[in-house]
Amino acid sequence: MELLRTPEAMRAWADGRRAGGVRIGLVPTMGYLHEGHASLVRIAAARGCGKVVASIFVNPAQFGPGEDYEKYPRDEARDLATLRAAGTSAVYLPGVADMYPDGYQTYVEVGDVSQGLCGAARPGHFRGVATVVAKLFLAAKPHVAVFGEKDYQQLAVIRALARDLDFGIEIVGAPIVREEDGLAMSSRNAYLKGDDRIAARCLSRGLFRAKALFDGGERDAGKLVAAARKEIKAEPRAALNYAEGRDPVTLAPLSGEVAAVTILVAARVGPARLIDNVTLGT
Ligand code: PAJ
Repeated sequence: MELLRTPEAMRAWADGRRAGGVRIGLVPTMGYLHEGHASLVRIAAARGCGKVVASIFVNPAQFGPGEDYEKYPRDEARDLATLRAAGTSAVYLPGVADMYPDGYQTYVEVGDVSQGLCGAARPGHFRGVATVVAKLFLAAKPHVAVFGEKDYQQLAVIRALARDLDFGIEIVGAPIVREEDGLAMSSRNAYLKGDDRIAARCLSRGLFRAKALFDGGERDAGKLVAAARKEIKAEPRAALNYAEGRDPVTLAPLSGEVAAVTILVAARVGPARLIDNVTLGT
């Protein structure tokens, strides 16, 4: 597994693989990897990518003032072992000064899908995500890039980015990997201790409750969302940020009778801001 620490090294690697006719898969991450990240590497390989490159970069541009940029968990040695075991060919680990040198002044803004939900709660977040992902696409030159549905709005932002800027990269969405008790795996789960870890189950419990109603025939978006919201509000250690029903593709707000809906939730539990979602009816 090759380690590449600058955009120049990443580009040279990608050019070499492309010249050899190899299909490149990219899995962008911020490190502190878990089974959800590893699943993305395996999905890229299953999509016919002869070489899969993962990136590890805690991107300061996507953290707001007072957010957890400094505290974000990091463990490079363990991450490299996880990536090696998942079959990764190369790891791109640029430094902050490589990505944002003095004089850096170019940002990418994706429109409507960046608004609302986490875009409302975290101003500038998706601008930072779109910018760094554009930079990763240009350095790693992948044919395919895999992103988790865990960050459902982020996936929609990246689909729009890839389409609108003619990257010519196939964007693949991957299913959410969960802990045994339903909690969606996340690097930020490391912040959860004791009772907060147990309380964090309320997000997935709410979404599973909505799914059970949908499977039982309920089609009213408001009622489905209300079921998820109720579970989170009933947990005293959780502070609900949002619970909303959106169109699974466009993320446009939905109400009334629906054939398909994505329910997205965000809540703070102790020190951690957690997100989760479920898509019903597709
Ligand atoms: P990070 O939170 O490290 O996540 C990296 C990728 O792993 C994202 O595509 C995310 O959706 C996916 N992922 C995380 N938890 C998952 C789970 N439980 N199941 C399936 N996939 C999961 O998302 C980011 O980093 C950054 O914003 C990034 C895209 C790298 C840009 O900086």
